[in-house]
Amino acid sequence: MSNAPVKKVPIHLQSSQNRLLIKNGQVVNYDGMEDADVYIEDGIIKQVGRNLIIPGGTRIIDATRKLVMPGGIDPHTHFELEMMGAKAADDFYKGTRAAVAGGTTTVLDFVLPEKGQSLVEAYNNWREKADNKVCCDYGLHVGVTWWSPSVKKEMQQLVAEHGINSFKMFMAYKDTWMLNDYDLCQAFETCAELKALPQVHAENGHIIARNTEKLLAAGVTTPEGHELSRDEEVEAEAVNRACVIANQMNSPLYIVHMMSKSAVDALRLARSKQKQPIFGETLAATVGTDGSHYKNACFRHAAAHVLSPPLRSDPYTPEAIIEALAVDDLQLIGSDNCTFNEKDKERGKDDFSKIPNGVNGVEDRMAVLWQKAVNSGLMDPCRFVAVTSTNAARIFNLWPAKGRVAVGSDADVVVWDPQLERTISAATHHHALNFNIFEGTHVVGSPQYVIVNGRVCLDDGELRVAEGLGKFLPTPANSPYVYGGKAPSTPQSTTLHYAPDSSPARVTNGTPTE
Ligand code: URP
Ligand code: ZN
Ligand code: ZN
Ligand code: ZN
Repeated sequence: MSNAPVKKVPIHLQSSQNRLLIKNGQVVNYDGMEDADVYIEDGIIKQVGRNLIIPGGTRIIDATRKLVMPGGIDPHTHFELEMMGAKAADDFYKGTRAAVAGGTTTVLDFVLPEKGQSLVEAYNNWREKADNKVCCDYGLHVGVTWWSPSVKKEMQQLVAEHGINSFKMFMAYKDTWMLNDYDLCQAFETCAELKALPQVHAENGHIIARNTEKLLAAGVTTPEGHELSRDEEVEAEAVNRACVIANQMNSPLYIVHMMSKSAVDALRLARSKQKQPIFGETLAATVGTDGSHYKNACFRHAAAHVLSPPLRSDPYTPEAIIEALAVDDLQLIGSDNCTFNEKDKERGKDDFSKIPNGVNGVEDRMAVLWQKAVNSGLMDPCRFVAVTSTNAARIFNLWPAKGRVAVGSDADVVVWDPQLERTISAATHHHALNFNIFEGTHVVGSPQYVIVNGRVCLDDGELRVAEGLGKFLPTPANSPYVYGGKAPSTPQSTTLHYAPDSSPARVTNGTPTE
């Protein structure tokens, strides 16, 4: 847990500082960079440019040699999730606090109903858990974990009345959340009718169940068995099957947490030929660490890395995934933040299949990607903004209020210091957990200021969040980016042109102009 100072400021005592000027920085959007100041008033970006005329009494933040970017949007979190007999340690307060500390100003969490439970009831429970705790804005996806005509009706209701435009279906977790192919067909079809977006967890749950039985029978009980029971092929098969089902049902598709080269190969092929758009999300975990940790003799260490699909033992995975993000084979990066403490992970001490699945990532997602992708020259800052923020805003229909530094957008802004050095550690992070899968990773580049709806919540490195300050974001159906004809691909990275060691290269429309 963090030793860093955290001021939990009650909302009524928050400063009435409603005018803010971010001066001398370089604004980065997905389609270009420009030297510009950003003037914010009452939570909205009012002016972007140089030599702005602003009212007296405005607070000024000097962003010289800093990048001014849209706040991150993490499309995949699980705060307070109950799964596999345990409850995720990060609740909506601590989870969103960690998000803000790392430069993320919007999270999209998953409502996951029990089999047989009303989807609307589960949705209401999630709202009740989250609304008074969130430190930044949040939206929800809803899981379709069982199928019946009543589920279809509730999907309609969630879209029409509750601001839901995405539904997650599971092809894994046999006997709990998994749907069969026939049910997947109906769920995808319903999404298409509602102009909502079907999301899938793509792994073959039947193969995993059979492999697990065989491994346990052969005496393999340690966390290493987790990856052995579900190798790359098991993920790639489900990716291909989900794409085929989507194509047959004439629906778009979003594949969550893509973790392997084989899965991305299957996605790339499907994207090249399908009628409807398909989006691929990967995770900070797969970019920032790898499957070698499952071999660690320390159960606590190995189990802390267990998530599904698993981290891969192929050492080329992180670089291949970053390249896929850079060239638009993958569109976004989330965290799948689902933190279980040591005691809960111990449920699987004698049986790897009982280890609650999930890792941290909501705090470190942006710094890890910056370090591994931008500092290595594989990705430019514009593409970094696209995959950490803009693409999520567009896919889930939050654009252009979110995901852009522009006049009229919400003032969710990060002042990013590309020179700021730190080492990631559980000793200083903000999760409700004493383990961090990125422990010891040295990063150059982190947020110095994070502005959430116009309020400075990370202030020159000091976290000053306010519980309940965030609001629920309804996500309207029929996102133009998903349903407005085949999704335009966003500019690819200017791979090999970006020079991270010098001052940031001037980039417009993905092409360096210097
Ligand atoms: O291991 C994971 N990914 N845990 C969270 C639940 C899910 O499947 O996304
Ligand atoms: Zn999943
Ligand atoms: Zn250890
Ligand atoms: Zn997840």
